[in-house]
Amino acid sequence: MSKLWAGRISKETDADANDFNSSISFDSRLYPQDILGSLVHSCMLEKQGILTYEEKQDIHHGLLDLLNKMNSGQVEFSSQYEDIHTCVEQLLTAAIGDTGKKLHTGRSRNDQVALDMRLYVVSKAEEIHDTLLNLISVLADLAAEYADTLVPGYTHLQRAQPITFGHTLMAYANMFRRDALRLENALDVMDECPLGAGALAGTTFPLDREFTAAHLGFSKPMSNSIDAVSDRDFCIEFLSDLSILMMHMSRLSEEMILWSSWEFKFIELDDAYSTGSSIMPQKKNPDMCELIRGKTGRVYGDLIGLLTVMKGLPLAYNKDMQEDKEAVFDAVDTVEMCLKVLPGMLKTMRVRKDKMKQAASAGFINATECADYLAKKACPSGMPTN
Ligand code: ARG
Repeated sequence: MSKLWAGRISKETDADANDFNSSISFDSRLYPQDILGSLVHSCMLEKQGILTYEEKQDIHHGLLDLLNKMNSGQVEFSSQYEDIHTCVEQLLTAAIGDTGKKLHTGRSRNDQVALDMRLYVVSKAEEIHDTLLNLISVLADLAAEYADTLVPGYTHLQRAQPITFGHTLMAYANMFRRDALRLENALDVMDECPLGAGALAGTTFPLDREFTAAHLGFSKPMSNSIDAVSDRDFCIEFLSDLSILMMHMSRLSEEMILWSSWEFKFIELDDAYSTGSSIMPQKKNPDMCELIRGKTGRVYGDLIGLLTVMKGLPLAYNKDMQEDKEAVFDAVDTVEMCLKVLPGMLKTMRVRKDKMKQAASAGFINATECADYLAKKACPSGMPTN
């Protein structure tokens, strides 16, 4: 397969070097974003008189046909394609002829990949945001159900003061609410379109960047072309938000592991969310909770990995930045899996009010309230006296 840049290079790429360089095995998941970007880019090229109406129509039919084929799994993303951008362009050109090559006018893969990733992150941040709202409502419903259920509150994992189970659950609902707000804020900050920045210095073609930005759902184009192709802050900010979200899910999971242990027995996880032991028949293990807790480490790894990739890069695009994809994809897949099991696990857990009450009745856990009562009695103004 001839490379986009074959004119400058006199030899075939070494087979191992080719596999090493190729990102198609993981960036093929960006085909919907890549095709959307190309549909809008070609509309703009036609509006600006750079493509004829017929050329734009041919490109659109070719791209939509390709989208259908990709959606139905008819395209093999083989490593002969360097990346998804090359793959779409070469398959388009094979289907409609040389007009396919005109699609890349006024564009580089550098602004193209920056756009594809941004569109992907925007859609995933929105989806995860909505899933979080569902988790919050599950927690709020449970909190209402257990608004009067007494349970010990802990500090240092020592029984501290009596609280309700509803209050505890709402602590987690509040954490997830902040996670949702963080995603809203990140979406606000990334609401700018990099398309039109070219390789780094813009282009001599009279592009309409406002048009492409608006039709791709962004408020405005990015103002600096070098920044537009070099920026991966939106990936890092998204990964930071996902890391904090994982940390919250991990804390809740840890709590559920404790609550379901023989020592606490405050809850019993439903059999649908538990596993057994191969040699100890008495055991019911909270594997899902442990996996959420464990997978938190991978998402932190994705964040730290990308921060490290970016920290020493000179302007503008460097191939190192291809490493953004697996980090973001892995974090998205992990968070989505965790968010899929957690609400069901919470909804189906059996809450042992009797055990909670029993634990809340022992251990002098009203000592603070008792001291408050005595202090108020001794001094009705509320000031302690000696
Ligand atoms: N696969 C590349 C990436 O993900 C696309 C951009 C390639 N640009 C380039 N100048 N080689 O970063």
